[in-house]
Amino acid sequence: MKKIIFVTAASLVMLSGCSQVQEWSDDLFGQKQQEKQKEPEVQTPDEEQDEQAVPEQPPEESVPEELQLESQFFNDVKVVDGKQVIQNPANLLALVNKEYALDEYKPADLVRPNVPFVFGNQELEKAHLRKEAAQHLEKMFADAKAQGVFLTAISGYRSYEYQKMLLEREIAQYGEEKAVMAVAPPGQSEHQSGLAMDISSESNQFQVNIEFAETKEGKWLADNAYKYGFILRYPEDKVAITQYQFEPWHFRYVGGDASKVIHENDWTLEEYFQNVKKI
Ligand code: DAL
Ligand code: ZN
Repeated sequence: MKKIIFVTAASLVMLSGCSQVQEWSDDLFGQKQQEKQKEPEVQTPDEEQDEQAVPEQPPEESVPEELQLESQFFNDVKVVDGKQVIQNPANLLALVNKEYALDEYKPADLVRPNVPFVFGNQELEKAHLRKEAAQHLEKMFADAKAQGVFLTAISGYRSYEYQKMLLEREIAQYGEEKAVMAVAPPGQSEHQSGLAMDISSESNQFQVNIEFAETKEGKWLADNAYKYGFILRYPEDKVAITQYQFEPWHFRYVGGDASKVIHENDWTLEEYFQNVKKI
């Protein structure tokens, strides 16, 4: 106790360059001096220290636990040909966007989730997700169904090559300016990470369009996907941040801890990484 008080007082002297501390310590010591002048009786060392005890310093600004994130979950990036290429692409929190790209990475643990696909039982590349995401997707679809909400999977994993074809097709159809707001360049789509699924419903004719947001299924997903570790990745009011148009059908798996924080704070994945502290 004695040592702590001594060090704190010493720090005040050392910090005398800081005006706030200076003012505060002047007040404190000025007041003490007046008190001493009023009451000149002798004090024991212990009493003296109690009198001089400074108010507790506010604790150093602490980061809440849910905003502390282990370094392995941050992109490890290397600049290749002017592009920031993710070196740890299997990271479940990989931030894949117009700034950070994948190389020709293909996830090693792709599985076919047991959910209805718009193309039935055909064995297509896009019928896959990474294992952990697939398990959570199954649970989400099953719980939705139990509540009378019928979801249909449209497109999951997409290879670099397939994404390239999709963008070229989109540009041919709508022109470059529109296309780049809707379809990611190869290497820069979350679908290549095996962690994103486009979802629609029969009630929306299985279309992925903004009308899906107004359906029972679209609303249910927007409200509940986070409980299963998924986030609505391209919200309507965050186009300036995500650099993509509103996609009420595109859900990205990030795991339950991150999805809750992102949902509660109404963040995008980009904003999440601006706010978490690396530990
Ligand atoms: N539609 C999203 C942005 C993609 O192509 O990955
Ligand atoms: Zn998508």
